[in-house]
Amino acid sequence: MALWAVRAAQAQDVPPGVLQFLRRHEEEEAQHLKQFELLLGMNSYGKTVLPRMPSQWRVLAVHLYGYETVGLEFARLLVGLRPDLTSILEDEEVHVGFFEHEVCTILVHGGPVADGARLAAQAWRRRLPPTVNRYLHDESFASVRDELHRHILGEIDARFLAVGLSAGCEGGSPKAES
Ligand SMILES: [Fe+2]
Repeated sequence: MALWAVRAAQAQDVPPGVLQFLRRHEEEEAQHLKQFELLLGMNSYGKTVLPRMPSQWRVLAVHLYGYETVGLEFARLLVGLRPDLTSILEDEEVHVGFFEHEVCTILVHGGPVADGARLAAQAWRRRLPPTVNRYLHDESFASVRDELHRHILGEIDARFLAVGLSAGCEGGSPKAES
């Protein structure tokens, strides 16, 4: 689900072990994309320019974690309709788990590094609603779009809160929801 972000992230300076995971991860995301294209009978628009990814690991890890959580929610939706595609959901659970662990490793340091990760999470979360809207653009979502939008953002907020990334945790003021 996060193919382009995962591909672009490999150009950044990441901790040992992460690059290896990203390479395998990219293969899985490319496979998922192919399955989606077959399913939907269309080609995704071929991106030639990769998105610009943050160079600081604390920020990059938060972005990848965020995109993976979105991917996981969409995989859940998909498997609700197509239980035969459970392997996609399983892959996404692994991806989310990997970056959740990386984010927790960053947060456990405390201090400015952890604060930087939290700030990155707040900024990423502020930009999330239009992104989710874009993913829900297809007319097949029309009747459930608002509900799904709320649900997906709610799930991501709950995760960010649980891992200590959101302002509602560890002494920050509770974050207002958009
Ligand atoms: Fe993923």
